[in-house]
Amino acid sequence: MLTWSLWCGLLFVLWIYFLWSRRRFYLLTLKIPGPIGYPFLGMAHKLIHREDILNEFGIYLAKHGPTIMSWLGPIPFVIASDPQVVQDILTSPHCVNKGIIYRAVDDGMGVGLFSIKDPRWSVHRKLLNPAFSHKVLLSFLPIFNKETAQLLSQFDDLPSKGEYNLIPLLQNFTMGITTQTTMGLDVKSEANFNSIVESYHCCLETITDMCISPWLHFKWVRQLTGREKNYHRSKTEIRAFLKKLIQKRLAEDTEDSIKSKDKNIFLHVTTDLLKRGVFDLTNVEDESNQVVFGAFETTAKTVYYVLMLLAMFPQYQEKVFEEIKSLFPDSGDFEVTYEDTQQMVYLDLVINESMRVIPPIPLVSRQTSGDLTLSSGTVIPKGVQIMIDIFHMHRSKKIWGPEAETFNPDNFLAHNTGGEKHPYAFIPFTKGIRNCIGWRYASISVKVILAKLLRNFSYKTSFKFEDLVFIEDVTIKLKTVPKLQIQKRT
Ligand code: HEM
Repeated sequence: MLTWSLWCGLLFVLWIYFLWSRRRFYLLTLKIPGPIGYPFLGMAHKLIHREDILNEFGIYLAKHGPTIMSWLGPIPFVIASDPQVVQDILTSPHCVNKGIIYRAVDDGMGVGLFSIKDPRWSVHRKLLNPAFSHKVLLSFLPIFNKETAQLLSQFDDLPSKGEYNLIPLLQNFTMGITTQTTMGLDVKSEANFNSIVESYHCCLETITDMCISPWLHFKWVRQLTGREKNYHRSKTEIRAFLKKLIQKRLAEDTEDSIKSKDKNIFLHVTTDLLKRGVFDLTNVEDESNQVVFGAFETTAKTVYYVLMLLAMFPQYQEKVFEEIKSLFPDSGDFEVTYEDTQQMVYLDLVINESMRVIPPIPLVSRQTSGDLTLSSGTVIPKGVQIMIDIFHMHRSKKIWGPEAETFNPDNFLAHNTGGEKHPYAFIPFTKGIRNCIGWRYASISVKVILAKLLRNFSYKTSFKFEDLVFIEDVTIKLKTVPKLQIQKRT
């Protein structure tokens, strides 16, 4: 008993010494509330399983307030879900770099826009911005239209199948669109096309595990825990796939083909930088890897969540159907123009509300590269890890009212969003200095896809909204994916 007390006392003294030696961080814990956790562990023991992360964050925020400070072992971290604090972070030049957990992304996908450090990030972002200009995006509309027409014919077989998991179908479909729009090539007929989507998922699983269990960065630990074989196979398969596309592009890139094709397609931009000696081949591969993943996974999930939520709330499905029918009276395939997408006002509300209650990327991370002074005057010192909890900010009752945790597109009616809502209260693509480069791409493609899917089919599910359980997986994941019953509309 005496030995046990001595050990506890020693640990306590060491913990106090540790906090004292890092007193700048400790001072922050006095200004920002939060669970301090156990000596040496902080709150790390609570955040080992990805199933628990969103839930645990929700518990801390509910208990201590919208901005909290805690420790992950020896590392101080802040969780922010207050719109003003989030704005202070996302607009600060001291918070451009992603948090250390993104080292896992570097390992799995290489060092591209998503995870690259400043000042290299600002250079890459400037060089790659032209691939996402409005003009380039408009040139993708025929691809969005043609590919969704093919998806419609696949949907024709589904009504007889009962409740059906649409996610794999949508992921293959968005991968087909992404490779055409970013890599400039239609590769759907390639033998291993379907397994590329699988490989991205396998990679993502291990990346998420590595984010929360840093010891998995060691290859031998991944080997011991049985992850390495699949992880390595997936990474190699994705690399080989991208290399093939890049080599094809480089081989095609005669003067004539450059003139005849849009120079601003992503792969054309990156291979041009390669030829000019600004990028090396690894840069081209890494940037391609991250942009393909960034585009196909988030778009597929967004489309699926909208269909799922409309299946759960049929009253809104009918309203959005009426709007689309008024623009496209006949069912079957039709061409959706950019001007059409601008007229789908109710669909806009539905998509926004879906991304509010289920943000496709629920948490984003930053680290301070210098002292950051918040609007409140509190200083977050250099070296602090920050998690921006988009999920809980989007569901905060203080911001969105008592019904914040349910789905209601009226939340985005002008009178609900005008005036009193903070501009950073809704940030599915984040905002500020390092926002999503593909947000306009996503906004247009998702509308074209949904207009066709909602005009031609109706969606039902027996799954209840209240039973959804969300899991952090870089993108958000559902513990159980509700299956949807679809029916043809005339
Ligand atoms: C609904 C669809 C999408 C959502 C919800 C979404 C969300 C986000 C978010 C939240 C970030 C910031 C991540 C962070 O700060 O850690 C981000 C970054 C990024 N997204 Fe998207 N995204 C979507 C679609 C796309 C598309 C279509 C593309 C490409 C065509 C894309 C490419 C990227 C890239 C390259 C970054 C890193 C940007 C940088 O750091 O400069 N995203 N996205």
